[in-house]
Amino acid sequence: MYRLLKHGKHPAKRFRLLVVDDQPMNIQVLYQIFSEDHDVFMATSGEQALAFCQETPPDLILLDVLMPDLSGIEVCRRLKANPLTADIPLIFVTGQSNPEEEAIGLSAGGVDFISKPVNATVVRARVQTHLMLKFQAERIEEANRTLEARVAERTEELQQAMDHVVQQEKMASLGSLVAGITHELHTPLSNMRLVSASLLDRVEQLADDLSAGKISRSTLDGFITYCRESSALIERASERSYSLIESFKQVSVDQSSDRRCEFDLLDIVSHTVSTLRPMLKTTSHSVDIDIPAGIIIDSFPGPLEQIITNLITNSIAHAFPDREGGTMHICARHTDHHFTVSFEDNGVGISDDIKLRIFDPFFTTKAGRGGSGIGMYTVYNLVTSLYGGTIEIDGRLGQGARITAKFPISERKSQ
Ligand SMILES: Nc1ncnc2c1ncn2[C@@H]1O[C@H](COP(=O)(O)OP(=O)(O)OP(=O)(O)O)[C@@H](O)[C@H]1O
Ligand SMILES: [Mg+2]
Repeated sequence: MYRLLKHGKHPAKRFRLLVVDDQPMNIQVLYQIFSEDHDVFMATSGEQALAFCQETPPDLILLDVLMPDLSGIEVCRRLKANPLTADIPLIFVTGQSNPEEEAIGLSAGGVDFISKPVNATVVRARVQTHLMLKFQAERIEEANRTLEARVAERTEELQQAMDHVVQQEKMASLGSLVAGITHELHTPLSNMRLVSASLLDRVEQLADDLSAGKISRSTLDGFITYCRESSALIERASERSYSLIESFKQVSVDQSSDRRCEFDLLDIVSHTVSTLRPMLKTTSHSVDIDIPAGIIIDSFPGPLEQIITNLITNSIAHAFPDREGGTMHICARHTDHHFTVSFEDNGVGISDDIKLRIFDPFFTTKAGRGGSGIGMYTVYNLVTSLYGGTIEIDGRLGQGARITAKFPISERKSQ
């Protein structure tokens, strides 16, 4: 059906040309012009040309316009309609060229027109131009593909590296949390153990004395005093352990166990402040709230109460060491996509040093004086992990503290 006319040995890149003409003489002419430099294939009908292109698409087609059965214009249309052959540059070779026919051929997708009888120099130059254009286009496409693949590869690598860092950070923070919990609980638990062991010894001693009939009033008095002091020590140590466990519990609020519902932001904040009223009353400090009514949020109200509680108790504990009448201000605003809660006090402020470590578990400036350093760690965990939000600490030493948390608002599910 079609055959390779010649395979020459030219050092430059050889392209595959398909010459389509119902007159073998015309094919012969074009073959002689191109066979030195390129692999030239031939087809003597439109159908043959279409079948050839389907099987092994050439780099360029020289196509006779007037052919019986299928015209060159129709062959061109069909080739352009097929994604496999649409990009092959197609030059019409025509006997009697007229502008109307050229317009139809070009709008069907041809790139050029050459008149018969062909001039070797002209046809060579035109074919060369279109081959080069196609070659360059292919190289650009290839470069784009390589670039895209490399970008995708790098993005993947970067993502993996980031996941790795996040994982490492999680492990490190888990490690320091476990170390901290162990350290904090170690003192009260060892005290309880020591005191209860020696209490047991004293009880055994008393039992022995009782059997031997050696119990005096003063022995009993001494025993009672010892019991009283020991149980007070055990009680203090167990209270400390219990409150530590309670604060650790806040850190890991289990999302599924927490009640999710629609709530009014102002209601929740006001309710939290009023539950803290008894504590506030023992101080001269006050809290004011600036939140518009009617901000309805579909989320977890419980942890939000916890966040507000921790911020208020922090101000009371740390912001006003030598001052009366401090004020705390809670403000909230919302947009379609998020709501922001900012908490401010006019206390001593937070130094840059403390700012750097304030969210670390067990970081406290009140070690041994009631501080565990769990409050802000909890706030951070809840805002970022539970709500998927962000938190910022503002304000310099001596200028009060400002903590701003930004919460995304999830799409309300349709009922
Ligand atoms: N409003 C504030 N003004 C000044 N300093 C603050 C304020 N809030 C927190 N801090 C500082 O940040 C530290 C860490 O706070 P965090 O709540 O984590 O721990 P804590 O209050 O010391 O102990 P805990 O909350 O576990 O009882 C505090 O020890 C304090 O130094
Ligand atoms: Mg605190």
